[in-house]
Amino acid sequence: MGLSKAVIPAAGLGTRFLPATKAIPKELLPVVDVPAIQYVVAEAAAAGLHDVLIVTGHGKDAIADHFDQTPELERLLAAKGDAARLEAVRIPAQLAHIHTVRQGNPRGLGHAVGCARDHVGNEPFAVLLGDDLIDERDPLLRSMLAVRQLLGGSVVTLMPVPREQIGLYGSAGVAPIAPGLAPQVGLADGDVLRVEKLIEKPAPQQALSDFAVIGRYVLHPAVFDVIERTPPGVGGEIQLTDAIGALTALPADRGGGVHGVVFKGRRYDTGDKLDYLKAVVRLACRHPELGADFSDWLTGFVGDKAR
Ligand code: G1P
Repeated sequence: MGLSKAVIPAAGLGTRFLPATKAIPKELLPVVDVPAIQYVVAEAAAAGLHDVLIVTGHGKDAIADHFDQTPELERLLAAKGDAARLEAVRIPAQLAHIHTVRQGNPRGLGHAVGCARDHVGNEPFAVLLGDDLIDERDPLLRSMLAVRQLLGGSVVTLMPVPREQIGLYGSAGVAPIAPGLAPQVGLADGDVLRVEKLIEKPAPQQALSDFAVIGRYVLHPAVFDVIERTPPGVGGEIQLTDAIGALTALPADRGGGVHGVVFKGRRYDTGDKLDYLKAVVRLACRHPELGADFSDWLTGFVGDKAR
């Protein structure tokens, strides 16, 4: 069955970015001139997922507004003949069919995904975390969908990280799969692994490998029952990692089995101030209007010892 649904959890309080996020959802912070979450919706749409459910919460209504139409603004821009801005304001509403559900009482990422159950139903679906931007030149989600089609079950993303950073992520215990399988979906042997165990935010000595789980998932709908049974974990929150860890132990005929696609491309954590700045600079350098001027300025700025 082809996948069509993506879920984007966006109910977090954005505390890492205060005070900027006191009144503005962190998902709407601009990365150059586009809100961070728009890149994520565009990524889902580019992978063929045109039904996007955003899990929002208190103070997050502006996210739904961003993806809505704005007839007055559009009329004004049309009357001025400002075709470029008219196109820019229309794009968010045209990218995908956007739905929202509210998380109410935010009890963790697993709980947020559980809130998507009524909308998703009994179909496999993708989860994209809004803080993680995957560079559009890296077709990660498409590879994950191909792996899901080949192997069934659920698929996570594995990114090698230095051991001292593993405590920021979910950590994966992995095993090789049969040679020749990954090349069937255009990936190298070794770039698709079987996931045997997951631990959320381990201490360095508890880490299962150097592979961190990052914010792209393709999940079997069996995860919804598992989430309901998942007790609060790290931080007192219902962790998605714990629920997917439970899927590794389920038989395939009950929706179990988890594989990981190894990601070596570019990812920016826009929830982290330093990574956010890096994302802005990288994307500004590639921006069709600003890129050339900004890159020139940046080269001079970096070389200017007096700065
Ligand atoms: C979440 C997940 C974690 C994952 C991370 C990737 O953590 O719980 O397993 O490694 O996203 O960005 P958070 O960053 O929300 O604390």
